[in-house]
Amino acid sequence: MMSKHEKTYVTNANFMLHGGDYNPDQWLDRPDILSDDVKLMKLSHTNTFSVGIFAWAALEPEEGVYNFEWLDEIFENIHGIGGKVILATPSGARPAWMSQKYPEVLRVNGARVKQLHGGRHNHCFTSEVYREKTQEMNRLLAERYGNHPGLLMWHISNEYGGECHCEKCQTAFRAWVKEKYNNDLKALNDAWWGPFWSHTITDWSQVESPSPIGENMVHGLNLDWRRFVTDQTISFYKNEIVPLRELTPSIPITTNFMADTHDLIPFQALDYSKFAKHLDVISWDAYPAWHNDWESTASLASKVAFINDLYRSLKQQPFLLMESTPSGVNWHDVNKAKRPGMHLLSSMQMIAHGSDSILYFQWRKSRGSSEKFHGAVVDHDNSSENRVFQEVAKVGQTLEKLNDVIGTNRPADVAVLYDWESNWALNDAQGFGKKTKLYPQTLQQHYKAFWEKDIPVDVITKEQDFSSYKLLIVPMLYLVSEETIARLKTFVADGGTLVMTYISGFVNEYDLTYLGGWHKDLQEIFGVKPVETDTLYPKDQNSVTYNGKTYQLKDYATVIKVDTANVDGIYVDDFYANTPAVTSHQFEAGKAYYIGGRFEHAFQQDFYQGLISDLSLEPVASVEHGEGVSVQIRQAPESDYLFVMNFTEENQLVRFDSVVKDLITGEEISGEVKLEKYEVRIVEKSKS
Ligand code: GLA
Ligand code: ZN
Repeated sequence: MMSKHEKTYVTNANFMLHGGDYNPDQWLDRPDILSDDVKLMKLSHTNTFSVGIFAWAALEPEEGVYNFEWLDEIFENIHGIGGKVILATPSGARPAWMSQKYPEVLRVNGARVKQLHGGRHNHCFTSEVYREKTQEMNRLLAERYGNHPGLLMWHISNEYGGECHCEKCQTAFRAWVKEKYNNDLKALNDAWWGPFWSHTITDWSQVESPSPIGENMVHGLNLDWRRFVTDQTISFYKNEIVPLRELTPSIPITTNFMADTHDLIPFQALDYSKFAKHLDVISWDAYPAWHNDWESTASLASKVAFINDLYRSLKQQPFLLMESTPSGVNWHDVNKAKRPGMHLLSSMQMIAHGSDSILYFQWRKSRGSSEKFHGAVVDHDNSSENRVFQEVAKVGQTLEKLNDVIGTNRPADVAVLYDWESNWALNDAQGFGKKTKLYPQTLQQHYKAFWEKDIPVDVITKEQDFSSYKLLIVPMLYLVSEETIARLKTFVADGGTLVMTYISGFVNEYDLTYLGGWHKDLQEIFGVKPVETDTLYPKDQNSVTYNGKTYQLKDYATVIKVDTANVDGIYVDDFYANTPAVTSHQFEAGKAYYIGGRFEHAFQQDFYQGLISDLSLEPVASVEHGEGVSVQIRQAPESDYLFVMNFTEENQLVRFDSVVKDLITGEEISGEVKLEKYEVRIVEKSKS
């Protein structure tokens, strides 16, 4: 938990950043457009632009031939209106000459097919040539712009992701594996369960990345490969920033993280908990499918909130929204425009959870190629009059009133534990239900029970400190090392309350199952032993009775043997009818709850309401409201800033228990207030 109400400024701007990806390199033969940009920037109340993200071909049209003049001008334009530049390193895409001359920079896919030049995000992350070229380019950028007063921060590459299976990457992987297993083939074969299907490795040269045309059933290998891909991506990134740290030590560095859609879960392919340590600031690109036809607006809002709280908790400091769209995108199945009001609401939700920016992809719609219809601030009409532009300007005007919020955060008593490695291992596990593992979604369900009640939650990772939380929720922690088990044990022994669910504690950090049943320390903490996990078909029916109520059960049920725990809930049907489904257990100074099945959301709501009362967990402020309204807080030493957000399609009444000041209109309000559909009110509650 952060020390209370301390401010952390993640950039040296004294305003909320508003703007986004600006690609003037697509318009260099249109000076009229570039000068319109400047006028439109002012009209849209924007102030910060990420430039150069895909500009390598414009910066170095031929090997060793550079053209920075256009970028100089863009710097002057932006600085001239008092704006700031987030300067990108252009490694996310490269000029054709480079792929032609140095084919080693091209990626090789899992099937060992070398990719052609084209698209983007398709470099080999091991290639010495590509590493040299990016470092060279980054050095030139730092030399030229490092002291420019308009430079705010570095944006390294773009949305790192993907993997390469070329020979250089195989060699790097072999070296990584060899080091990890201390040059000991026996240790490797033990970890990878070598004798299975005669997969014993007898020479390091036999180590190969997983492949659809080769090895893909060795779970230890798959897991180590995913770890290697994260490490190698970070290593590529670290190579990129060498000249930047050297020449611009005081300019903060970020790279834009992602989420996976359309279900809106955290990005899966890289372990961001590792990556975060190498960044000064976390930033991410949020593209929720608002107004979709498979979930309510509130339900989607709670998923966005979860990812915000995960990415914010990675560094326990404000983060930046690096990309978002003012209307629709171009890559969802259906690219629906944000309805009136949604742009302000969805933007303020990001601020409410700790973002100090609202940035877009992109400033101006391209004229050609695949992103020409992606939402942008400036449309093909080049007008400041249209609805989308006006809604952007409104966000800008709102942000201008939120300067006091910059740098603030808030503490939490509740944490949900998210683990990338466990998710990888669980997804790899052949067992359970292919389509129903849903690890991130399950965490989002548990989180939602608190979001609905305005109780702040940090979403933390396994290496973070547990001790400051009253309640730690660990759903479906399939992979858990003995070290983490020991830390969970200390947490409970010292008085913490721990909740764990079905499909937890199956394998260790090598993806090898624990032998002899559940780990003895887990048995000690929970006073139970899960003995069987039943996986259900979608049409199977069962339920649980808990505190006199009955709740539907789906997908998973754990048969539990109780030792010293209390039985709080029991299964209704099947061969485990009348046996324990939910248990609680006093362990030393703390308490541990085990939830055996996947129950309908009403269960989470009631179960956690019990803990909220027992542990006196408080909502961020006493603002009474109905379902679908969320209240989030950011706290400064003198004031609380409350974001009261209506994520429903109806008007909602909310009630403030004291006098607060509306930060946008300046009016004082108290008592009952009506929020229109999608309306957000941002109010200051003074502490004096
Ligand atoms: C990603 C990329 C951007 C753009 C957007 C479109 O976030 O980083 O360059 O392609 O998607 O939504
Ligand atoms: Zn490679």
